[in-house]
Amino acid sequence: MRFDVVTLFPGIFEGYLGQSLLHRAIQRGLVDIQLHNLRDWAQGKHKNVDDRPFGGGPGMVLKVEPIVECVEQLQTAEAPTGHVVMLTPQGQRFGPKKAEELAARRRLILLCGRYEGFDERVRLILRPEEVSIGDFVLNGGEVAAMVLIDSVIRWIPGVLGDEESSRLDSFSGPGRLLEHAQYTRPREYRGHSVPEVLVSGDHQQVDEWRNQNSQQRTRQKRPDLISNHLEENSKDEECPS
Ligand code: 6GU
Repeated sequence: MRFDVVTLFPGIFEGYLGQSLLHRAIQRGLVDIQLHNLRDWAQGKHKNVDDRPFGGGPGMVLKVEPIVECVEQLQTAEAPTGHVVMLTPQGQRFGPKKAEELAARRRLILLCGRYEGFDERVRLILRPEEVSIGDFVLNGGEVAAMVLIDSVIRWIPGVLGDEESSRLDSFSGPGRLLEHAQYTRPREYRGHSVPEVLVSGDHQQVDEWRNQNSQQRTRQKRPDLISNHLEENSKDEECPS
């Protein structure tokens, strides 16, 4: 899967791209991430990428021409056509469904905003899908783009060492519950022992314990996930006519 990231700060991504899971996925050719410095598409002698907002007010607005021309060039220079995603606090909330859905695309073009946002004509011309990672304001879309990439690539076959671990993860496991508690050695530490069933060797009992633990901790920590889950399931049921 190919990602093109359009940003004023490509350096923010560099450490992240060179580490662990993502690095391995890139080395194995499963993921290709190309960074594009928006400043390379800036025009005029000052190479401005931002300007003051019409109507006044604080902050600077990202200019329309560099972004539109950058995306146009990316779309014509390389195949397949990229699905354009704008990272903005005004977007639809990113979640597990969206991650899985985006992972089915062959190519994404991610637009990272800065300052007070994008000139509105970027939206009108490029018609991007707008995505937010939560109801808080980040200084720019770069961190959000990394969150998106990190979570999307987990759905690409071969990226995870163990295919199963993605399905059992919190939010995407059976019933979209939180993941059960995990233990490793030592069996006892400062008076806390590993639950007996986990060292019993009885796989059926272990599965049962994990399912119950998942449900219990979801009720405690994220009761909203349980009610969402019930709601979703009831939507799936046919209404008798
Ligand atoms: Cl995607 N961008 C910015 N700048 N702030 C955000 C966000 C994105 N998601 C939540 N806050």
